[in-house]
Amino acid sequence: MTNRICNFNAGPAALPLHVLEEIQDSFLDFQGSGMSITEVSHRSKWFDDVINDAVLRMKRLLNLDDSYHVLFLQGGASQQFCMIPMNFLSGGATADYVNTGTWSTKAIKEAEIQGKPIRVAASSEDKNFSYIPKDVSYNPDAVYAHITSNNTIKGTQWGEFPDTGGVPLIADMSSDILSRSFDTGKFGMFYAGAQKNMGPAGVCVVVIRDDFLEMVPDDIPTMLRYSTFAAKNSMFNTPPCFAVYTVQLVLKWIEETIGGLEKMAETNQEKAALLYKTIDESGFYKGTAALGSRSMMNVTFRLPDESLEKTFVAEALENRLGGLKGHRSVGGCRASIYNPTPLAAVQTLCDFMKAFERKKG
Ligand SMILES: Cc1ncc(COP(=O)(O)O)c(C=O)c1O
Repeated sequence: MTNRICNFNAGPAALPLHVLEEIQDSFLDFQGSGMSITEVSHRSKWFDDVINDAVLRMKRLLNLDDSYHVLFLQGGASQQFCMIPMNFLSGGATADYVNTGTWSTKAIKEAEIQGKPIRVAASSEDKNFSYIPKDVSYNPDAVYAHITSNNTIKGTQWGEFPDTGGVPLIADMSSDILSRSFDTGKFGMFYAGAQKNMGPAGVCVVVIRDDFLEMVPDDIPTMLRYSTFAAKNSMFNTPPCFAVYTVQLVLKWIEETIGGLEKMAETNQEKAALLYKTIDESGFYKGTAALGSRSMMNVTFRLPDESLEKTFVAEALENRLGGLKGHRSVGGCRASIYNPTPLAAVQTLCDFMKAFERKKG
């Protein structure tokens, strides 16, 4: 394993080494089947055990009651942007959206394309999406209020979820799901593409409550109805078996190796604090997210100029620190420090940043 780098990719992103080794060990002969998990039928007991265990672990970790269903879908988080208004906004029903960046903007656009009468209740576009809006007033008649819990590109995160006055929240949690525990009771649904905090690309986890499933109309395509997948334990058609299996192992890792979400959150806080301290104590690096809105998952920062940023990213890679280039739409630098990123990798990054500053600052 000497060849592995410190991986700060934004997604697909680092997976726990423990999980990768477990996959490797059982790859050619899964559970004595004489086949790999990518070869067994999704209708077999082997895969049934995998998906059922993943659902159970997800429910346990998030403390979900029986009114919530855990689904494993394809189409990524982006497909949920279109399915959410399609499934829940029939007959003129309205919803609120908070716009905190690229991904919320895309979610809003998908509702608008369908002509749904949604409202943008708040936006942080006035300051280049560098903060999370506070004291938003929500429409009491809204079927849901949609937020992006963590903004992967801009490096902002909802520290606490908003008080909507009883309007159920729907959250895109693609880049911070399972990074901390939260009160799931406020949510009608939340979802996450697995490829950041939870597994490989190819599966999107959707957690949806009974009352939201009951809203799904019959006159939309079968494959675009949440109820289709809820009724069939995510196996209406062939699910992305390998991705679901990897998610199952990541959930097991969080439960059994890390010790649950409180412990996970503690480490995540420690990692983020270390990195932000390095940034704040330097006169060289500058964080781009407003204090109070900073993400624990995606730490975005700038150097004094773009050419230094280029050199920083290149030299970091020479030092086996990968994935530090900011998103192409915003530039700068970004360290994504999701659940699997070890504290030691963040420490190594901080040491490199200090050395780079001494040399170039
Ligand atoms: C917050 C957020 N939402 C949605 C997406 C898009 O996810 P997907 O590629 O699974 O559609 C991403 C990242 O790629 C993201 O960071």
